[in-house]
Amino acid sequence: MSTTPGHPQRVFQIAPSILSADVCRLGEQVHEALDAGVRWIHVDVMDGQFVPNITFGPLVAEALRPLVHSYGGTIEAHLMIVDPDRYLDDFRRAGTDAITVHLEACRDLPRTVQQIHNLGALAGVAIKPHTPLSEVVPVVADLDLVMVMSVEPGFGGQKFIPSSLEKIAELRHLLDDRGLAHVELGVDGGVNEATIGSVARAGATLAVAGSSVFNARASVADNVRALCLASRVEPAPVR
Ligand code: DX5
Ligand code: ZN
Repeated sequence: MSTTPGHPQRVFQIAPSILSADVCRLGEQVHEALDAGVRWIHVDVMDGQFVPNITFGPLVAEALRPLVHSYGGTIEAHLMIVDPDRYLDDFRRAGTDAITVHLEACRDLPRTVQQIHNLGALAGVAIKPHTPLSEVVPVVADLDLVMVMSVEPGFGGQKFIPSSLEKIAELRHLLDDRGLAHVELGVDGGVNEATIGSVARAGATLAVAGSSVFNARASVADNVRALCLASRVEPAPVR
């Protein structure tokens, strides 16, 4: 966790996505991330329909709950599933603190957001790269998190789509202009040492990172530290 350059009041944090973790050592790897200072764990839930891949269900969130909560951390379920209303209750009972649904998967988005809040969870809405910001604007004041997808959802390890930076910056202005600076601005996909600085500068507060945290190149702790460092890009010196 750190503040954003030029905006000391804005907290910027890294949210490791367990999609790229070694599932045989999941608890151990999440533990390492928490020890390195992480306080937000992102669980990618895919149903093979909204996206082609199939991943985790509520049981995985439930298994991680005691560990993450013992550090005061937040577990977020990113639901890449059709008609997510069917599973909100299950994920909440499993201990997820934040539930993020896809705008494109909801039949009645304001109702889904209300349902998440009724369950006592933070409500997030994710938008795919081709979904214009204007579609999320009507509900933005009711959200705790807006997640800008910077890759097509479905798989880890993809390349960051550069035009996402304009979307992030536009959303930053919109949130600030409307007195909604408390709403988390998340970015998900292709966040690594090369892209995280631009993501932070564009105004994001939460950077989801999968393959740049969990990989064979370095330890989880070293990767988290490197991302933190790379996110603190100093403004150009004044001459
Ligand atoms: C993609 C998922 C992401 C993914 C990010 O559909 O929503 O959370 O794990 O992985 P990286 O950081 O490797 O792009
Ligand atoms: Zn995700």
